[in-house]
Amino acid sequence: MKIVIVGGTGLIGSKLVNQLRERGHEAVAAAPNTGVNSITGEGLADALKGASAVVDVTNSPSWEDAAVLKFFETSTRNLLAHEAAAGVGHHVALSVVGTDRLLESGFFRAKLAQENLIKASSIPYSIIRATQFFEFVKKIADLSTEGNKVRLPPVLFQPMAADDVATAIGRIAMSSPVNATVEIGGPEQFRLDELIRRDLAARKDPREVISDPHARYYGIQVSERTLVPNDGAQLGETRFEDWLNQSTKQVPMTGRQGA
Ligand SMILES: NC(=O)c1ccc[n+]([C@@H]2O[C@H](COP(=O)([O-])OP(=O)(O)OC[C@H]3O[C@@H](n4cnc5c(N)ncnc54)[C@H](OP(=O)(O)O)[C@@H]3O)[C@@H](O)[C@H]2O)c1
Repeated sequence: MKIVIVGGTGLIGSKLVNQLRERGHEAVAAAPNTGVNSITGEGLADALKGASAVVDVTNSPSWEDAAVLKFFETSTRNLLAHEAAAGVGHHVALSVVGTDRLLESGFFRAKLAQENLIKASSIPYSIIRATQFFEFVKKIADLSTEGNKVRLPPVLFQPMAADDVATAIGRIAMSSPVNATVEIGGPEQFRLDELIRRDLAARKDPREVISDPHARYYGIQVSERTLVPNDGAQLGETRFEDWLNQSTKQVPMTGRQGA
């Protein structure tokens, strides 16, 4: 089965390409540096020839409001038009749990626009909304840092390993389109502030995490369940503690890592 992974050189895309190849599928990593650009359309027609499914795990190089909206709208329109021309029967896209509750942010307005274009198109689809990746936890801390303090709200948080995200996408891409949105998440729920505190402590990062119900997540006001999936979400297997032990073994301790 030929599957094209647009964004196939990124964090999730490269894991997905490897997992599919290990299972004997023809997985094409499509990205600007492999000659495929979903914004300009370069290389798309060739890459999509004979593909059963296209997985979109691209991300915008800029998260500025207008730029990110333009990226996801243009990229999605181009992909869907080329898929229609090539007769592709399944469009799979990765989005974010709670997107419709996070619209204060231009990034999530862009993700919702991406989802709406997919739903309005004629291509059978599966939209996968994932919770935050474990690999993204440090960036959340960095975005909430002022001086040596990280201010975060104690809301529920259910992150998952990027490996498990890729596994779930692969499973869904190999199945029939659901023409609906599927949620995926991690196996455990935490409090956001507590999880970031554990992550920083394990990395010997000296920043102090302050629990503040009024603090914003990524600049957005969130409440108890904004970031967690509904009942019935498909859950990954990897526990945060095991991932953290693994990742702190691999990464040398360098104290505070950027802000
Ligand atoms: N971070 C989270 O916790 C989280 C949670 C849920 C869902 N998501 C979603 O997951 C998706 C993938 O995230 P990620 O972290 O894997 O992204 P990433 O590592 O930043 O990778 C993005 C990929 O998109 C490619 N790309 C950029 N511009 C392109 C273009 N014009 N044409 C084709 N490919 C292009 C990049 O190629 P180059 O490297 O060559 O530029 C790269 O392969 C995003 O849509 C994000 O919204 C993220």
